[in-house]
Amino acid sequence: MTDDSFNGGSPGFRARSGWTRAQASGIERTDETVAPIFYPPENDQIPDVHIWDTWFLRNRDGTLAEVDGYRVCFSLTAPADLLPGKRHDVATIRCFYSSDGRNWHDAGPVFEEALGQRQWAGSALYDDDESVYVFYTAAGEDDAEELTYAQRIVGASGGTIDTDDGFTLSGPWTHHELLSPDGERYEREDQSRGMIYTFRDPWFFEDPETGETWLLFEANSPVPEGSDVCDGDAAQQEFNGSVGVARSPTGDPLKWELEEPLLDAVGTNQELERPHVVYKDGRYYLFISSHLHTFAPGLEGFDALYGFVAETFRGEYVPLNGSGLVATNPENAPFQSYSWMAFAHGDEVLVQSFFNYFDFAGPVLDDIAHLSEAEQMRRFGGTLAPTLRLDVDGTRTRIVGKLGHWEIPMAGESLPPTDEELIRRAREAADADASERYHGGSE
Ligand code: FRU
Repeated sequence: MTDDSFNGGSPGFRARSGWTRAQASGIERTDETVAPIFYPPENDQIPDVHIWDTWFLRNRDGTLAEVDGYRVCFSLTAPADLLPGKRHDVATIRCFYSSDGRNWHDAGPVFEEALGQRQWAGSALYDDDESVYVFYTAAGEDDAEELTYAQRIVGASGGTIDTDDGFTLSGPWTHHELLSPDGERYEREDQSRGMIYTFRDPWFFEDPETGETWLLFEANSPVPEGSDVCDGDAAQQEFNGSVGVARSPTGDPLKWELEEPLLDAVGTNQELERPHVVYKDGRYYLFISSHLHTFAPGLEGFDALYGFVAETFRGEYVPLNGSGLVATNPENAPFQSYSWMAFAHGDEVLVQSFFNYFDFAGPVLDDIAHLSEAEQMRRFGGTLAPTLRLDVDGTRTRIVGKLGHWEIPMAGESLPPTDEELIRRAREAADADASERYHGGSE
């Protein structure tokens, strides 16, 4: 990649970087960006609950923690007999652990009590090899009788892990309200005009180059009504997703100050979900998940993982593969997975997601509600999807294979050769063989 490839990015509306309509209009399925079809796992490891958004316990440097040989993850969960579409209303964060990165066990709900009516996605930090911090979204006002959609960013401190007799994660936890939207850089609920506003999905990141400590989150940029943003197109203005960011001046995981957003997509997309960064080859890869139905009028996208790359954490970010599309589902199973999270493993980037409505190809996911409840249940995965393998090189990415459902290799574990690698090796062996026979014959 040359430095020139960074000149194509246009600034965002409030952020230094933007995901423009021109860039997003290039979104199309390609061999490099379409995941293979996923089939249901042979057995559901955690059958009692639906599992969706998932994140790993990570060290400050971003590597996945291994606590006395255990990998640890956190997921949003709901009882498995609940209609999947209702799960967001009762989401509970549970902890899972594994000693081999394949077989996972349920350590139970993380909190007895937490802020909000229910808890949405987040991230988790294992600090100094001993303290567990869980960042999450408090969704809904605690005292409201009805379900509400206010969102605040919360950090829970006080967690410790004990492995003397199996595995337990326990408190006592203290819940700290960390951030709420300021109405200037980040839209408040009362300013929002279109689909549900967002202020959620906190994700901890320490910059390996500068040592600065950041919290990324999903948000929206306020767009004044009647303004000439998007050439005054009011319908487009309603799609104002951003990747928000706050900085901790001291590195304290519980003290944050809001800053200008990292990137926004005003006029392009409403929801830049679960933003996170993978630092690789001296570059910052910013990933988000988004939906087909959250693209602004006139644009067509997919339920997919999208990504951007920059030379510094603050950017400017440019979309990967030109349009931003990194990984999507095949056309005949467009909702088979969602809520992707990328992480480095050796030279590769791996991507976990959850197994969503794997057997549904309607034009929009909301149409699933027209099927019988039994069919909605049957077609929903509610567990982790197969892990994708991604080759990331400069501004380009390529899906190069997959691992199993819930397969999150342990640190240093080498991965099996990809299909591409096996074919290359077989061809090389055949060429060597042919050359030997040729030379052999000529002697
Ligand atoms: C993505 C998401 C997150 C949110 C959660 C709620 O799957 O929309 O942004 O935290 O689901 O269930």
